[in-house]
Amino acid sequence: MTEKKAILKVDGREDIALSVYSPSLGQDVVDVGPLTGSQLFTFDPGFTSTASCESKITYIDGEVGKLLHRGYSIEELASQSDYLEVCFLLLHGELPSAEEKELFVSTIKNHTMVHEQLQFFYRGFRRDAHPMAVMCGVVGALSAFYHDSTDIKNPKHREITAMRLIAKMPTIAAMCYKYAVGQPFMYPRNDLSYSENFLHMMFGTPCEESKISPTLAKAMDRIFILHADHEQNASTSTVRLAGSSGANPFACIAAGISALWGPAHGGANEAVLNMLDEIGDVSNIEKYIAKAKDKQDPFKLMGFGHRVYKNYDPRASVMRESCHEVLKELGVNDPKLELALKLEEIALSDPYFKEKKLFPNVDFYSGIILSAIGIPTSMFTVIFALSRTVGWIAHWNEMISNPYKIGRPRQLYTGATERSFIPADKR
Ligand code: SDX
Repeated sequence: MTEKKAILKVDGREDIALSVYSPSLGQDVVDVGPLTGSQLFTFDPGFTSTASCESKITYIDGEVGKLLHRGYSIEELASQSDYLEVCFLLLHGELPSAEEKELFVSTIKNHTMVHEQLQFFYRGFRRDAHPMAVMCGVVGALSAFYHDSTDIKNPKHREITAMRLIAKMPTIAAMCYKYAVGQPFMYPRNDLSYSENFLHMMFGTPCEESKISPTLAKAMDRIFILHADHEQNASTSTVRLAGSSGANPFACIAAGISALWGPAHGGANEAVLNMLDEIGDVSNIEKYIAKAKDKQDPFKLMGFGHRVYKNYDPRASVMRESCHEVLKELGVNDPKLELALKLEEIALSDPYFKEKKLFPNVDFYSGIILSAIGIPTSMFTVIFALSRTVGWIAHWNEMISNPYKIGRPRQLYTGATERSFIPADKR
């Protein structure tokens, strides 16, 4: 990183010299470390202008709508790669050779089963529990099963943990669905690809051989790729913060799942489908656009807007194209797609959305494809968590394998100054 200088001038204080680092891509950053001894804090609720770490994994240029994973564009990865190859890229920094890919895929295959005891965690939940509640609990419980790889300073332990998590998330996710619908859990099959295996565990039954549609398997794999990683978003930052205390990686991933669940983040894909159901018909779009613009109305257009993208989310573009392909190949005419396209057209021509640079994000179209595949709305964020696990573990590994400090933000305190206790009879 090249270095420039900055001077912080504060009335009544000595100037503070700060360093400015230039990245390989993106904006310069001001290192505010020297403020530590100066009794000055930076103040940035929501971290809108704060770089929390140095990373080499993913880069987003929000102004032009560009997303790179280790330098490769999401468009090229979505059209030319597959999810496990993207997992290798995110974890190791390079696309795998043929031999590396073969070993990676076979290693993943050999870790797709979960411990037989894990099934009993599901039985503690009501059948109508939200699958994300189940996934939070089950993934957090994984740390109870892997006492053989708890030394986070050991690269071999970090490697096997990454493989176990990538391999087992589809099994755990499918078990969440099977438990909800009252069908028997399906064991993974090593003769199937990663996405075929997931669809097998989701929709297969012990009564007959699974028939996996290549179209659906390809669409599923593409959805996994599009959700794999996204810089320091809320859930990834949660995983990093949890990991900075030395917590085990399974607990950190469970923390990430919890953060992802929120409707402002990964829960938006479920919220988009619920919103489209609520809008119901093209004739109601104007009313809901007005609600989204009304400051007194808490309604937001779900699947629109983004902290970083001030242009079209490139993942949404790929997702929208996939929508047309998948629905056409399946011969499905989903009125929700027509409604979504019309909603996008009207919103993007509205001055409010144009001025605030609110565009569709990854969650706007994903639910339509997931519905076409047969996945219920309540499972959408579970799929997002499954896909994002590789991003979370890649960032966790990047942090742990380099010098790091426990994350401990400070605050702007505006509460009561010190005062004496008042006994109850004098209040
Ligand atoms: C994901 O960070 C990531 O990278 C996340 C993610 C990933 O892959 O990890 O990309 C995945 O979480 C995508 C985002 C999914 N969430 C939604 O679709 C929910 C709807 N979107 C909004 O809640 C909102 O756009 C956020 C949360 C996504 C971004 O919020 P910001 O960056 O804090 O921006 P903001 O809320 O301050 O909005 C700026 C302005 C505000 O108006 P003003 O106060 O300036 O007048 O735009 C308005 C907002 O009210 N606005 C919206 C809106 N989103 C923002 N108005 C109506 N509808 C919306 N969807």
